[in-house]
Amino acid sequence: MANEKIILTGDRPTGRLHIGHYVGSLRRRVELQNSGEFDKIFIMIADAQALTDNFDNPEKVRQNIIEVALDYISAGIDPAKSNILIQSQIPELTELTFFYSNLVTVSRLQRNPTVKNEIQMRNFETSIPVGFFTYPISQAADITAFKATTVPVGVDQLPMIEQTKEIVQRFNYIYSPDKPVLVDCEALIPENESCQRLPGIDGQAKMSKSLGNCIYLSDSADEVKDKIMKKMYTDPLHIQVSDPGHLEGNVVFTYLDAFCKDEHFERYLPEYANLDELKGHYTRGGLGDVKVKKFLNNIMQETLDPIRTRRHELEKDIPGIYEILRQGTNAAREVAANTLSEVKAAMRINYFDDAELIRAQSEKYEGIKD
Ligand code: TRP
Repeated sequence: MANEKIILTGDRPTGRLHIGHYVGSLRRRVELQNSGEFDKIFIMIADAQALTDNFDNPEKVRQNIIEVALDYISAGIDPAKSNILIQSQIPELTELTFFYSNLVTVSRLQRNPTVKNEIQMRNFETSIPVGFFTYPISQAADITAFKATTVPVGVDQLPMIEQTKEIVQRFNYIYSPDKPVLVDCEALIPENESCQRLPGIDGQAKMSKSLGNCIYLSDSADEVKDKIMKKMYTDPLHIQVSDPGHLEGNVVFTYLDAFCKDEHFERYLPEYANLDELKGHYTRGGLGDVKVKKFLNNIMQETLDPIRTRRHELEKDIPGIYEILRQGTNAAREVAANTLSEVKAAMRINYFDDAELIRAQSEKYEGIKD
């Protein structure tokens, strides 16, 4: 149907989800889901994409599908409102990828900043696997197969959305100029800068499993507390409580920016009305790190407690989770198959469904009898 509002987004199942995923995109997806404004919602566990840089470790991908599914549902993705699907089980996506790959040049892929960055990170410079190099095309297939209008993602995914938009435009221009088959999409990124690239607890650029600086949604209360109180990077120049503190690069304050609401002050730190007051005191001097860390810990526990509790409930019925995935995938596959038929019709490669083609071809040979 025209003008439907459709969400598609997803994650690579290479590990449990952490609070960077949460503030970067997952929290927003749950809000959008519950807003009731969307006609359909698809959340993809992108295992095929995960294999593009983990092809030598398929077991890792296989093990983490359930982790990501548990994290999604615990965080509030409701299978009654959102289809959770497994990418590799929808072969239509691969077919779309193959057709779209004609519309993208090698140099355009080489310019994709996310791909460039990942090639460096993985030391792929000398031998880039083709599957990895072309995954932005497959991601365009993910998005367009569901005619997504809205793609809530972290900022690192913006180049993928940009590439998708170009593919949509080229496809429609070449194959369906009169009645566009593919739908243009918009990325939705967090407004709050701290949420866009949440640093790891060590203050390193980004929270990431390989750097070992994550707080996971599934961490126990003690693990979360330990990471905040004992490991979290603050301001190395703030030695005495009376010293003026710095906010720049101070992870505790970055996390407060991402998680803290005024109501948290009423509950846990009533001496201050809001985060600006707390920051003011810290930068003037006279406010110790431990006090701020305790406040952050209270907020994190309040945020993560319900997620952890729901997860423990869900963990009791793993076959039930796989069933949710099966149903989500089946429903999604129908939608993708529909789009693929339209794509093939637009590309004039739906020969057996095309009675007019067969009639015209036979007419061409009529009268040519031996
Ligand atoms: N590239 C995304 C990531 O690394 C995962 C992903 C795959 C995705 N397909 C998608 C995200 C489609 C948004 C839309 O997290």
